[in-house]
Amino acid sequence: MDPKTIEKSLAERASKVLMSTYAQTPIALERGEGCRVWDREGKSYLDFLGGIAVTALGHSHPAVTAALREQAGKILHSSNLYYIEPQIALAEQLVRHSFADRVFFCNSGTEANEAAIKLVRRYATERFGPEKRTILCMENSFHGRTMGSLSATGQGKFQKGFEPLLPGFAFAPFNDLAALDRIWDATVAAVLLEPVQGEGGICVPAPDYLREVKKRCRERQALLVLDEVQTGMGRTGTLLAHEQFGVTPDVLTLAKALGNGLPIGALLATAEAAGAFTPGAHAATFGGNHLVTAVAGKVLEIIGAPEFLSRVKQVGAYFRQGLQTLVEAFPQVREARGLGLLLGLALDVPGKPVVEACLERGFLINCTQDTVLRFAPPLIITEAEIDPLLLTLQDIFTEMSL
Ligand SMILES: Cc1ncc(COP(=O)(O)O)c(C=O)c1O
Repeated sequence: MDPKTIEKSLAERASKVLMSTYAQTPIALERGEGCRVWDREGKSYLDFLGGIAVTALGHSHPAVTAALREQAGKILHSSNLYYIEPQIALAEQLVRHSFADRVFFCNSGTEANEAAIKLVRRYATERFGPEKRTILCMENSFHGRTMGSLSATGQGKFQKGFEPLLPGFAFAPFNDLAALDRIWDATVAAVLLEPVQGEGGICVPAPDYLREVKKRCRERQALLVLDEVQTGMGRTGTLLAHEQFGVTPDVLTLAKALGNGLPIGALLATAEAAGAFTPGAHAATFGGNHLVTAVAGKVLEIIGAPEFLSRVKQVGAYFRQGLQTLVEAFPQVREARGLGLLLGLALDVPGKPVVEACLERGFLINCTQDTVLRFAPPLIITEAEIDPLLLTLQDIFTEMSL
């Protein structure tokens, strides 16, 4: 028989043509509605990962689909050589909803962080001279995979083999002001950090930590840059996570849920910081094109509504409470943590078998830092969808304890 006619499994086909950058789970999803997705065999799963904190409004949201269809029928892309009305409208919305005065659009989280790194370097160089150029970052952080954001990422495992990294980054342990003070010198131009570390294991800092960092930034003439790529867009129960910590940054990055699945990133800044970008200083061909900004405008309109955000807080608290009961019931479950619907369950055992058992039973979750189960479901998840996952986790931990 002609080998071409033999049905090959997707894994086999993928291994022949794709670079093996991902350790993939052997399912292929092809349809979704709300918080439920279906694979090619018709098996359904409740989605507690949301494409890694991306599909905040769930799958096939009617308003998102309608916005996409409508814009696709007009024009997808023209280029930033011309004004793009949906891009301006989205920037107006972001400015209205945040500390920011100006926005730059790109296509992903890592690109937003690259733009932030360039902006703060130029701002500091112009204002204070070339010596002030260190960006203080956090150990255990994650900012992306391109060379700038990779250099800002405080986890050696992502950097191995890609040296030399960019110079001008220093690292302090997260949530440790004394350590921050020890390494902070006159060359520091900015502090870059996630308000809640996502890939680092859902680490929430002490309530006054960000305020204290901001205070030091003001006193020492450095900019505060918050990476809200994962925590932004309502994920933690406020549109932007820093709102809950009583601080405003000078610069902030967004991506992930902003397009609910369409690739878009954004750099937000005060007018003062944004002034460092002049024509030609930075650009992105696709950045903020008609399609992605029309869709993101609809996403922001829905997520930015106060009643939507208070519902995220309410459901997040319910979920967190359910995870806490697992901590109390099982010795191998150490801690439930997180904010809103960015939740983690830290285990004393590897998380991979739990992720696999959940998959088998129809739930998508994942694991970060080997032992922290991560939950970042669509923000429209309900208590009635959370309950079956909690029961399933209870069963899995019971079986593991036997
Ligand atoms: C906090 C944070 N920053 C940046 C990134 C990189 O985003 P992207 O994968 O869109 O480049 C991520 C991705 O997980 C992230 O969690």
